[in-house]
Amino acid sequence: SRNLPPATDMAQFPVARPRRLRRTAPLRRMVAGTRLHPAELILPLFVKEGIDEPQPVASMPGVFQHTRDSLRKAVHEAAEAGVGGVILFGVPVHKDARGSAADDPEGIVQVALRDLAADLGDQLVLMTDTCLDEYTDHGHCGLLTETGEVDNDATLERYASAAVAQAAAGSQVIAPSGMMDGQVGAIRAALDAEGFAEIPILAYSAKYASGFYGPFRDAAECAPQFGDRNAYQQDPAGPIGEALREVRLDLAEGADAVMVKPALAYLDVLSQVRAMVEVPVAAYQVSGEYAMVEAAAANGWIDRERIIMESLIAIRRAGADLILTYWATEVARTLS
Ligand code: PBG
Repeated sequence: SRNLPPATDMAQFPVARPRRLRRTAPLRRMVAGTRLHPAELILPLFVKEGIDEPQPVASMPGVFQHTRDSLRKAVHEAAEAGVGGVILFGVPVHKDARGSAADDPEGIVQVALRDLAADLGDQLVLMTDTCLDEYTDHGHCGLLTETGEVDNDATLERYASAAVAQAAAGSQVIAPSGMMDGQVGAIRAALDAEGFAEIPILAYSAKYASGFYGPFRDAAECAPQFGDRNAYQQDPAGPIGEALREVRLDLAEGADAVMVKPALAYLDVLSQVRAMVEVPVAAYQVSGEYAMVEAAAANGWIDRERIIMESLIAIRRAGADLILTYWATEVARTLS
């Protein structure tokens, strides 16, 4: 605003009438600067080992823990609707302290990827979340020290191995979400060494320790068994510079795209990240954002479709090139 002429130099009412461009739907459509396209939407999906029927997630009406078959169907529907990509989360039968299923070639995400890669891998982008919380019996995102803290450096090796297993099974984008320092660099080095130099990394760079992840922890069965994630995820009250620094560090370690998460409560962070970087910026409209809208709509308190669109437009307007949303398929259909 410092660079604008003072208001007194500008046209005033009745010459100035901002409403002129709002008068008709075609005028509004023509000047709307913010548009959504199905290709920039990414659908998060859960696949669970050892079930015969998809299981509804109670706190996320319309979202399921999928079987391998129902996952395939959901990815097919997303592709038909023009959705840009899917990101897979696995729910294994066996969990242990080191999250062994995360890098097991027979682990549920790896098996599911091989199902999908053959016939769907050229229709949309198959992405994987790389973390340990779904695979550890304690529910933390990394290995624990003897005193129960998350061991940053020991965890990096596990992430690197999980990323390589995912890439080998057909993942086309690796998305590390655990907030360990150095995770992007460790994964980049491992992918390069194992012949996956072409596989991009979408880094969950600015990821906050958020109450908005509550329903996800039911869906992925990964709530921490003790404590919380406050010692590795960012403090919502922390300075914005902390988020910008995380983004710069990830880019320096080789990230190809970066993410801000959650979305709606962090639009200020999103817009500052957008202004700082040249790479694609993603925002994750997380489980709690989804659940709040669905719950209020089920009570008849809000206009569901209108609020879904308005929230996505807001995320886009704040600077997201890509949006991860559980409504991706539905919205993509509406748009086309
Ligand atoms: C960690 C991960 C989480 C989400 C995505 N990746 C959970 C967490 O950090 O506790 C949350 C996504 C959502 O709430 O929709 N693997």
